[in-house]
Amino acid sequence: MKEKLQNLQKTALKEIFSAKDLKTLKEVAVAYLGKKGKLTEILHGVKDLPAESKPIIGKLSNEIKVELEKAFADKNKEIENLEIAKSLNEEWIDLTASGEKYEYGHLHPLTKTQHEVENIFHGMGFMVADGPEVECEKYNFDDLNIPATHPARDMQDTFFLDKKPDVKLGKLVLRTHTSPVQVRTMLKYGAPLKIIVPGRVFRNEALDACHEHTFDQVEGLMIDKEISLAHLKGVMAEFLSKLFEKEVKVRFRPGYFPFVEPGLELDMSCTICGGVGCKTCKHAGWLEFMGAGMVHPNVLKAGGIDPNVYQGWAFGFGLTRLIMMRYGIDDIRVLNGGDLRFVEQF
Ligand code: PHE
Repeated sequence: MKEKLQNLQKTALKEIFSAKDLKTLKEVAVAYLGKKGKLTEILHGVKDLPAESKPIIGKLSNEIKVELEKAFADKNKEIENLEIAKSLNEEWIDLTASGEKYEYGHLHPLTKTQHEVENIFHGMGFMVADGPEVECEKYNFDDLNIPATHPARDMQDTFFLDKKPDVKLGKLVLRTHTSPVQVRTMLKYGAPLKIIVPGRVFRNEALDACHEHTFDQVEGLMIDKEISLAHLKGVMAEFLSKLFEKEVKVRFRPGYFPFVEPGLELDMSCTICGGVGCKTCKHAGWLEFMGAGMVHPNVLKAGGIDPNVYQGWAFGFGLTRLIMMRYGIDDIRVLNGGDLRFVEQF
C-alpha cells in the first residue's frame, strides 16, 4: 500500500511538472484530488484498513495530499506568469518610440472668413439668408431690372441649364451673383429687412489669376422707412474695422448696376498702408471693395414692397477677393484648387 502511494506520488508530481497549460494542469488535479480522484479514493479507504497500518497509511496519504496541493498551486502560478509574459511579449508597446503625427482637419479659409463676416453682421442685427445656386432667370436677372435684351446681361455671362424654360421663371441658370436672394427674401419676409447672404456664384470667365468660374460673394440688404446711404457707410466702416481689427475708412464713387439707383462703388482705405499709399493700393491709399446703391423701386416692387413707403440699400462684395486681400493671396485659382499645400497653411 505504502509503495502504491509512493508510486502515485511520483507519477502525480511528474504529471504536474510536465503540464504545459492551465487546462492540462486542472485535468491532472481532478484525476488525483477530485471527488473521484486516485488519492481521494485511497484516503476514503483508510478507514477500512487493518488497525496497525491505518495511522501510517493515513498520515502518509495526507502528507502526499498536502504536497500535491502545493505542487498544483505552484505550477498554476508558474503557468499564469508564463502566459502573462507571453502576452506582454506579443503586445508590447515601445514607450520611447516617437509618436505618429495626428493630422487634424480644419475649416477652409473661405469658410472661416465667412463665419467671421456672419458674426459681425449678426452683431449689428442682420439675419443670414440663403438661396439656391441653380437660380431661375427671373430672380437672377428680370426682377433685378435686367430684362433679356439688357446689355447688363453681358456683364455677367454665365452657364444656362439645358432644360425647357418655365413660362414664368424663365431658364435655369447658375446664379451670377447673390443678388437674386434680395427679391426672394423680400417675398418671404416683407419689410423691414436686414439681411446678408453669403454664397457661391458662377460666371463664364476666361480663367486667370484674377478670374474664376466659381467664387463667393456676400450680399447685403437693408430695407426700412427712412434708410439712407449714410447707414450703409456706417455699417461698412464698422464691419471692415471689426474684420481687419483696425480703423478702416470707406468712400463712395459713382457706379452702375441696373438694380440700384443711385448706384455706387465703395472703396476702403488700404489696410496695408492705412491710406498713405503703397504697392498694394497702387499708391492710391484706397482699395476697390464692392458695388452698392439704393435698391431700385422696380426691385422693391418685384419683391412685393411699396417703394413709396419703404426704401433701402443693397451691396455685394466678393468674399473670395476679400480673403485674397486679407491673406495676400495673388492667384484666385488656389482657393478652390484642392491643393492641400495651400489649405494647410491656414
Ligand atoms: N450683384 C453685383 C455684382 O455681382 C453687386 C451688387 C450688389 C451691386 C448689390 C449693387 C448692389 O457685381
